Amino acid sequence: MLLQLSILAVLLLCPVWAENFYQDATVTFGDHRAQIQDGGRVLALSLDKISGSGFQSKNEYLFGRFDMQLKLVPGNSAGTVTTFYLSSQGAGHDEIDFEFLGNSSGQPYTVHTNVYSQGKGNKEQQFRLWFDPTSSFHTYSIVWNSQRIIFLVDDIPIRVFNNHEALGVAFPKNQAMRVYASLWNADDWATQGGWVKTDWSMAPFTASYRNFNTNACVWSAATSTSSCGGSKTDSVNNVQTWQTQELNASERNRLRWVQQKYMIYNYCTDAKRFSQGFSPECKRSRF
Ligand SMILES: *[C@@H]1O[C@H](CO)[C@@H](O)[C@H](O)[C@H]1NC(C)=O
Ligand SMILES: *[C@@H]1O[C@H](CO)[C@@H](O)[C@H](O)[C@H]1NC(C)=O
Repeated sequence: MLLQLSILAVLLLCPVWAENFYQDATVTFGDHRAQIQDGGRVLALSLDKISGSGFQSKNEYLFGRFDMQLKLVPGNSAGTVTTFYLSSQGAGHDEIDFEFLGNSSGQPYTVHTNVYSQGKGNKEQQFRLWFDPTSSFHTYSIVWNSQRIIFLVDDIPIRVFNNHEALGVAFPKNQAMRVYASLWNADDWATQGGWVKTDWSMAPFTASYRNFNTNACVWSAATSTSSCGGSKTDSVNNVQTWQTQELNASERNRLRWVQQKYMIYNYCTDAKRFSQGFSPECKRSRF
């Protein structure tokens, strides 16, 4: 009884649900180029001249917190794109993206973020990182609830996309999404606008994914219901913290720091591209 209680206590305190790539992911393309390692804890994707590779979660989710540790393609990664994103399927899809655009040796990666609602994107923000993302694993997280989407790097918020449906801006909240990851060649546009091509003499290129954790609501298409697993609860409100997560004062400071020092592109300030006027939420986002 005591043992059972302590197991229960451990389960309740366990902050996140650790996914196992064997059980929880499906390779979507690239065959042997996607390799599960370390008993299901690590998934390595590779890219050669013939194909890239990718995987998706078996589950579909409607809201949650999704953490993935990534170690990006080292050395000359120009032309490669490594991704970690959420997406629904079909026409008018929703999508929340992290994409990592490779570069020549010694040149910085670009972290590209975007949000699609009902098939419409055009909400890009891009960042540099304050560390070398190829030398060790770092944690990239997406928090998705009905009020906002938060992108985090090593728990530091880099971007918040708020629900501005009141201003007529669509927000992803009605379509369940899967988690996707891929490594592919995009040397027609990815690196320095397509000027720098993939050096195939360096192939295969490899990126590794580790410690995929979800604290999310799993969607059942059969019953059209979602069940919210994980167990990180807010002791005050007794709800899962990601469900109401917003930034506190110190996180807002971190966000400001990232946006001032590391943001290299913001759709809300690209007057050339949006010469007809910015999307309404741009007026509200102070960063
Ligand atoms: C690659 O490095 C160049 C030079 O530092 C930089 O201008 C560019 O933004 C970097 N990233 C990509 C994806 O091209
Ligand atoms: C702000 O939130 C972070 C992350 O949840 C937490 O670690 C930190 O203690 C909070 N800070 C304050 C001042 O509440």
